[in-house]
Amino acid sequence: MEDRTFDCAAGREFIARAEELGRLSDSPHHYTRTYLTHAHREAARRIAQWMGEAGMRVRVDAVGSVIGRYEAASPGARTLLMGSHFDSVRNGGKFDGVMGILVPVACVAALSREGRRLPVAIEVAAFADEEGARFQTSFLASRALVGRFDPALLARADADGVTLAQAMREAGLDPEAIRGPQVDLASLAAYVEVHIEQGPVLLGEGRSLGVVTSIAAGTRHWLTVRGVAGHAGTVPMAMRHDALAAACEMVLAIERRCAAGGSRVGTVGMLEVKDGTGNVIPGEVRFSADIRAADDETLAGAEREAFAECDAIAARRGVRLERARTHSVKAAPCAQGLQDGLAASIERVEGAGPARRLPSGAGHDAMILADVTDVGMMFVRCGAGGVSHNPAETVSAEDAERAIRALGDFLVRFAG
Ligand code: GLV
Ligand code: MN
Ligand code: MN
Repeated sequence: MEDRTFDCAAGREFIARAEELGRLSDSPHHYTRTYLTHAHREAARRIAQWMGEAGMRVRVDAVGSVIGRYEAASPGARTLLMGSHFDSVRNGGKFDGVMGILVPVACVAALSREGRRLPVAIEVAAFADEEGARFQTSFLASRALVGRFDPALLARADADGVTLAQAMREAGLDPEAIRGPQVDLASLAAYVEVHIEQGPVLLGEGRSLGVVTSIAAGTRHWLTVRGVAGHAGTVPMAMRHDALAAACEMVLAIERRCAAGGSRVGTVGMLEVKDGTGNVIPGEVRFSADIRAADDETLAGAEREAFAECDAIAARRGVRLERARTHSVKAAPCAQGLQDGLAASIERVEGAGPARRLPSGAGHDAMILADVTDVGMMFVRCGAGGVSHNPAETVSAEDAERAIRALGDFLVRFAG
């Protein structure tokens, strides 16, 4: 039997909160909330309020993540950590990340209303930066939480030249204070993340919830192509070293190599022409490459092939190519016991036979937590054809409600 504490019609409240956070945006035109902007700090304040109302003690860690704690029935208990991020990609969907904060907060609120304490303490971490859209700093906050913040990042500048260290100081954070883990790692029992699926699998199969089996590995790179700038009217085509034309060939090479089969995927999402002008042959171009695969070896093979072809294109076109890796994260399997526990709770709530188990192609904070504790993830059906990293991303109140009930059921059984 499903635990009834969480059958509390919280789906509509979840949607209202996600909509409210969605209005806290860096842009008046769309939903974009990047690390430490005004909108981001407002969202942190609102999340802290909701955690407080749910009966949690709230703290803000050294990088601005908001962490709520709900004590166990007795002192000295271990801690079940849950959470996800409240920053977004540019022009993104408003459920990506915040779902993994609002769902566990709703569960804690239900426990707290009944004055019910569990044998484990619960912490919910609202991670301040996962997408890394402002400073190209993926997983900054979860890395800091486990004590793996890279101080070299502090010198990274955003598009306006503001460094990460400056942004932190302006937000009242002390970059010198990011030392050591921001939670007691020794007391962690596990980490569990609820996330919108960001794909069409559950939607296509008519399931509202799923269990994640593993999370794909990923790397990101900047590639800089240097050719020779020149006059668009005078330099014969055969004599050019056009950095943009070379970069375009490289983009297509990356696409082709990553489309070669299996779990490989590759994306160029940013491309900048330095001093770009209509009547100047481009002299310098910089573009990003995001490459992923289900396992580390497949990823390494995809990178090797794609970049060898880029080098060959550079040599043939007489341009220079530099490459810098900005991010790398290993594939993370989800712990079998947590998968089974989440599956059993989903089965009780959905009543539709064995829960759907599926891998995650997207990256999640759980990948970083996997270095220090067992991790488990629950996916919630993504509406609108399964589209995500897109303003059309959507979740229904009914599915949110089921997620709250299933996570709540899991909590009391995991702890029991
Ligand atoms: C996170 O959104 C990712 O890039 O997978
Ligand atoms: Mn995302
Ligand atoms: Mn996300």
